Amino acid sequence: MIAVLLIMNDSGNNKYLLTPGPLTTSLTTKQAMLRDWGSRDADFIAITRRIQDELLTIAGVGDSHAAVPVQGSGTFGVEATLGTLIAPGQRTLVLENGAYGQRIVTILERIGREVSVLHWPEDQQVDPAALDKALGEDPAIAHVVVVHCETTTGILNDMVAIGRVTQAHKRRLIIDGMSAFGAIPIDGESVPFDALIASSNKCFEGVPGMAFALIAREWLELAEGNAHSVSLDLYEQWRGLEANGQWRFTPPTHVLAAFDQALKEHGEEGGVAARHARYSANRDILVQGMRELGFETLLPDMVQAPIIVTFLMPDHPRFDFSCFYDHMSARGFVIYPGKLARADSFRIGCIGALGAVEMRQAVAAAKATLETMDIEDLAPLPTNQNDSLNRMGTQ
Ligand SMILES: Cc1ncc(COP(=O)(O)O)c(C=O)c1O
Repeated sequence: MIAVLLIMNDSGNNKYLLTPGPLTTSLTTKQAMLRDWGSRDADFIAITRRIQDELLTIAGVGDSHAAVPVQGSGTFGVEATLGTLIAPGQRTLVLENGAYGQRIVTILERIGREVSVLHWPEDQQVDPAALDKALGEDPAIAHVVVVHCETTTGILNDMVAIGRVTQAHKRRLIIDGMSAFGAIPIDGESVPFDALIASSNKCFEGVPGMAFALIAREWLELAEGNAHSVSLDLYEQWRGLEANGQWRFTPPTHVLAAFDQALKEHGEEGGVAARHARYSANRDILVQGMRELGFETLLPDMVQAPIIVTFLMPDHPRFDFSCFYDHMSARGFVIYPGKLARADSFRIGCIGALGAVEMRQAVAAAKATLETMDIEDLAPLPTNQNDSLNRMGTQ
């Protein structure tokens, strides 16, 4: 029986969510939801417009792109974007190094689009040279889809290089920026993307319930009639919003109000650069602290995004993850199970409305939890496993 007294923290919760989303939001973001909004009300229409404009500005794309929101979680945004932009009969190449890339393949197959896949192990970055070769060999590939930060592991893919290769071959680039946009710099100039998908929570620290895509207008204009679904048709969603600023179907009004506030706080903090700096400091405190306790990260530091860190399950007879999880949770920190196909692991996020103080507290909670579990020293993994992981990650 775990009995630890939890009190409200600064974000108005009794626990911090060290997860890839939903994540910890500020008290003021939650408070922005304390009123009701009429969906046709001028105030609410202004909120939607403000959010659209702000997202385009953050991505550095202005008028060349349109910001199209859609109800639902991030996956709804991914499915809506793929189904709307990719016409039946067109071939798409997915660059896949984790579960979210695999989900993109599943969606394309399910909605009956032609798909090719380039696959890498979960601890390796997408290789732009392999993309270059694949595009050179197959002129039928019309579009490339890639995940910016593969949240499966927390690995960062090189968007500038991937963007350069895709543009050189005159193909269209769709980026799943769900766990990157808002905290990892990306802009339309250095990465010429045709569509970028993300959501209200994750690095913007809004509440979940809304996804969006920033889409090149000249492509969106060609997308009428492509979509496999009525509610996930971003062309119709865009036309509706352009016509009168209103959503076609009931909008998640409170989610938008919170997102509006979260974007204001994102700007006040100093935008993408400041958020990147805070999350990077969070990651560094976490990684250093956990390593001092004997935990090992899956990824080498060079490719580890400041979003979520994958730790290998310790090889210790008394280490039991569900027990570790419960004790961390009782101490106020919710962590996350692993999603690796080939190794036992768990993940701890560095994103959300929290900083250095909370990350140090999380490490202290991990230390106290190990003591509770009567573990003094975490035995490192057998050397051969370590070596092979490091080799794979740095290739
Ligand atoms: C890169 C990436 N894509 C897509 C998704 C799916 O988002 P959701 O769980 O909100 O549907 C996630 C969620 O973590 C993600 O990290």
